[in-house]
Amino acid sequence: MAEKLKAGIVGGTGMVGQRFVQLLDQHPWFEVTAIAASKNSAGKTYEESVQGRWKMAGSIPEQVRNIVVQDASQVEEFASQVDFIFCAVDMSKDQIKALEEAYAKTGTPVISNNSAHRWTPDVPMVIPEINPDHIGVIEAQRKRLGTKTGFIAVKPNCSIQSYVPALHALLDFKPEKVVASTYQAISGAGKNFTDWPEMLDNVIPYIGGEEEKSEQEPLRIWGSLQNGEIVKASSPLITTQCIRVPVTDGHLATVFVSFENKPSKEEIIERWRQYKGRPQELGLPSAPQQFITYFEEENRPQTKLDRDIERGMGVSVGRLREDSIYDYKFVGLSHNTLRGAAGGAVLIAELLKAEGYIQPK
Ligand SMILES: NC(=O)c1ccc[n+]([C@@H]2O[C@H](COP(=O)([O-])OP(=O)(O)OC[C@H]3O[C@@H](n4cnc5c(N)ncnc54)[C@H](OP(=O)(O)O)[C@@H]3O)[C@@H](O)[C@H]2O)c1
Repeated sequence: MAEKLKAGIVGGTGMVGQRFVQLLDQHPWFEVTAIAASKNSAGKTYEESVQGRWKMAGSIPEQVRNIVVQDASQVEEFASQVDFIFCAVDMSKDQIKALEEAYAKTGTPVISNNSAHRWTPDVPMVIPEINPDHIGVIEAQRKRLGTKTGFIAVKPNCSIQSYVPALHALLDFKPEKVVASTYQAISGAGKNFTDWPEMLDNVIPYIGGEEEKSEQEPLRIWGSLQNGEIVKASSPLITTQCIRVPVTDGHLATVFVSFENKPSKEEIIERWRQYKGRPQELGLPSAPQQFITYFEEENRPQTKLDRDIERGMGVSVGRLREDSIYDYKFVGLSHNTLRGAAGGAVLIAELLKAEGYIQPK
């Protein structure tokens, strides 16, 4: 078997970083060989650095326990030890932009969970089943950054995976207007009930910046590659409300949609069941076999029951019915820290490796 690519995790001690560590344990193509975080964690073993704040189910994988965490600001030194990095850090947008570009300029591919570069025109923001062709913009980005091998690719906000895949499968019926309300898990804020007890028995009707991301990011996903940049789509019109609810993991969305060419209910369900993307064609290791699962039962999908479908990488929909104001309404669900965060980023890395963008240094 070919040697595995060496993956570094910048921000490996945080909530998303821990998810990367867990997902990459025993990964067939990638092996975590180095971890970086803030100066507070640098010099400690991974096990020491996450002591008292390991948030994953199950224990810390054996292979990373004794890795000594490095200072992420030592870019050249860290980059020299890995083939590519995953990045998920809690820093200001400007700091993250600068850090990720510094890594890319060392010739290192950066697969990012952070939002800082989501609107940089030559940085692809990818859901591999939906817009894999956007990775073509990397060529222009490499020219701008002055590197032959480095680049930055990002994943979109976790909220949009609960409704964008279902709408994408229906794109040729031309959705015109979309209203989506999201019911978002507390892990999306990097929290659990121990460190956010106010969320028990509570709903908070505000998540800073989330509605703007939920309305705008789908248009970039549906945008097109033109002259070395991604130009966002101009339709459908999307309006959202994003609400924090007391669940650990899983973002659920209620969606209303009107089309230019209204399909039948049977056509919609058929499209959802048949939809396959590039990850399914390529048989990528983290790809769900069934990207969109439609439930006939009227009380599904449920967050707790269905968020882990296809190892948390599938999305589920249900309750499709005609509406009196819009054409249809339905409910969507996706796992926010798997499909919506670390799992989505691992799938992007697999796509980029399969397409030749990530190689051994
Ligand atoms: N939670 C989610 O579901 C989710 C979903 C999508 C995207 N994201 C994004 O992913 C990123 C990380 O989120 P998170 O929830 O994992 O945050 P988190 O649990 O607070 O972890 C933050 C990580 O950043 C590191 N860090 C902080 N300051 C740093 C510095 N100056 N230099 C280098 N590393 C530094 C921390 O290292 P120390 O441990 O040493 O402090 C830690 O590893 C954020 O940009 C967030 O918006 C999160």
